[in-house]
Amino acid sequence: MSKQFKRTLITSALPYANGPVHIGHLAGVYVPADIYARYSRLKGKEVLFIGGSDEHGIPITIKARNEGVTPQDIVDRYHALIKDSFERFGISFDVYSRTTSEIHKKTASDFFKTLYEKGEFIEQTSEQYFDEEAQQFLADRYITGECPHCHNEKAYGDQCEQCGTSLSATDLINPKSTLSGSAPVMKATKHWYLPLDQHESWLRQWILEDHKEWKSNVYGQCKSWLDLGLQPRAVSRDLDWGVPVPVEGGEGKVLYVWFDAPIGYISNTKELLPNDWEKWWKDEETKLVHFIGKDNIVFHCIVFPAMLKAEGSFILPENVPANEFLNLEGDKISTSRNWAVWLHEYLDEFPGKEDVLRYTLTANAPETKDNDFTWRDFQARNNNELVAVLGNFINRALVLTQKYFNNSVPAVGELTDYDRETIAEVQKVKEAVEQNLENYHFREAQKEAMNLARIGNKYLADTEPWKTAKTDMSRTATILNLSLQMVANLAIVCEPFLPFSAKKIYSFINTDKFDWEQLGNFNLLPEGHELGKAELLFEKIEDEVIEKQVQKLLDTKKANEEKEYKAKPIKENIVFDDFTKLDIRVGTVLECEKVPKADKLLRFLLDDGIGKRTILSGIAAYYPNPEELVGKQVCFIANLEPRKLRGIMSEGMILSAENADGTLSLIQTSKEVKPGSQVN
Ligand code: 2FM
Ligand code: ZN
Repeated sequence: MSKQFKRTLITSALPYANGPVHIGHLAGVYVPADIYARYSRLKGKEVLFIGGSDEHGIPITIKARNEGVTPQDIVDRYHALIKDSFERFGISFDVYSRTTSEIHKKTASDFFKTLYEKGEFIEQTSEQYFDEEAQQFLADRYITGECPHCHNEKAYGDQCEQCGTSLSATDLINPKSTLSGSAPVMKATKHWYLPLDQHESWLRQWILEDHKEWKSNVYGQCKSWLDLGLQPRAVSRDLDWGVPVPVEGGEGKVLYVWFDAPIGYISNTKELLPNDWEKWWKDEETKLVHFIGKDNIVFHCIVFPAMLKAEGSFILPENVPANEFLNLEGDKISTSRNWAVWLHEYLDEFPGKEDVLRYTLTANAPETKDNDFTWRDFQARNNNELVAVLGNFINRALVLTQKYFNNSVPAVGELTDYDRETIAEVQKVKEAVEQNLENYHFREAQKEAMNLARIGNKYLADTEPWKTAKTDMSRTATILNLSLQMVANLAIVCEPFLPFSAKKIYSFINTDKFDWEQLGNFNLLPEGHELGKAELLFEKIEDEVIEKQVQKLLDTKKANEEKEYKAKPIKENIVFDDFTKLDIRVGTVLECEKVPKADKLLRFLLDDGIGKRTILSGIAAYYPNPEELVGKQVCFIANLEPRKLRGIMSEGMILSAENADGTLSLIQTSKEVKPGSQVN
């Protein structure tokens, strides 16, 4: 049996406050953490659920520079937006604070000082790029230059976005500082390192031997890091945005963002419980669980535990149920390419449908591998599962009670074998959901919870109370009593997953919240209990709504293609004579029509100044009304060998330009000229 704890401390990764949060954040971290927190509270456990914004790091300073504002302006803006989105989705944090708070700066600073004084760091001097004009050391992102692999001249010091290679700034040819434009020089700088190599052996034991139960994606990543051998990691940076390094020689330096961010969990606990926080972090009876995405695994399983261990008085996490990534319509979610469903936009566009997204994201949670969100699947989950199964069962049970028993719970009579089997099935749901939740299998847990509604639907379909009502009212009463007890059970089991819907169900059945241990109980609603007013729990989502969202993504895709368009490299030089061989002319369009049975081709009849000339051109797709071209002037190559296409002789080639998205546009002169004029 696994260890029993007194209390549960749940942390969720602190998102960077340099942009809004999207469905990937929700699916990977915040919905599972919230399900776990709500479930644990319902079980009557003592729970703390910690969230907050990560407000340091280079990307925030770069965004601020680009916008001409301060980093504080950036984090103020996004912290407020992110906090609001989480609140509106019902993420039930006990505290949501930020790493620019005074209490955090002090906590992180003191933590560093403690490790420093205990001799837990090593100091190393290394050569780094320095901008003499700006009098600043340069983070790799602040340097651009030529990529040594593909010779893109605008590669960043950490990565070339053209060929995708990760670089370090010293790899760049002709590096330049983005601060001043000058060429940076190498200069010695001192930093503090956490000697992870010295922690390797206990980490191996703790993860690889003592925590074999961790999810395989987490365990596997840790194992490969450990097998490669751990290296000392710098925990300070030359930067002016962050928590200042609080020891001698630390002037102009700050703590590395990944050193201070996880300490944010501690600071936020302190902020909430100034006198009582220590038991949450220092008592072995606390179960600490970190919810994160897969890119954070090494920091939460190796670096942060090493920091906690080095400090000496803290507990270590019991589990780190990291998720893989969620993609959107087949492509990686990307903030910079605006390829995301932003939570604040969803909340505004789908008011009252918070649970629909929570449900879909859990049903598709990227628990063991990357997964995909599509708007079609979102619609199907809503219409075929939430509406047709969950909403339908609850609605039928309530409406039938209204109709036959004046909206109060009817008396239960003698049970049939089938009733007893149904009750037994419902009672199995509790253990199935619990088993899955205790093991962080949220998708499966939600499926089991929905199973309760399936059982209910089947029960109504099999017992047909609308038929028994004609002959046997006491049987009808029993059926509806049991159905209503199932509705009450659904309120309990839905609460961790669909908190907004659970609240509605409670109002339909007109009771206070039950606790988790009541799940499986068929005496939740006493005979004669008055029900509340029933409404539809979920509504169907129509095709138009989904098409609008799909179109929005298509528009984004198109805008990205245009933004990312790179002109093709210039062809090899030619001599002037080569050019003069081409006879390019202007012609006036006399006739223009589609070539029958050839969907790409248009037939042009041109006045070429000498006579009439027929040319076929493959641009039909871009000119759906070809007759509108009559009277216009186009450019064409007049001396191209004629050739037969679809039985028609084509005498030349009409010139067009190909746009970023592959669409074609005819070349025209800026003023009208005589047909037959030469282009040179
Ligand atoms: O990856 C991220 O978004 C980080 N800001 C997560 C930090 S988690 C914790 F350490 F605060
Ligand atoms: Zn490159």
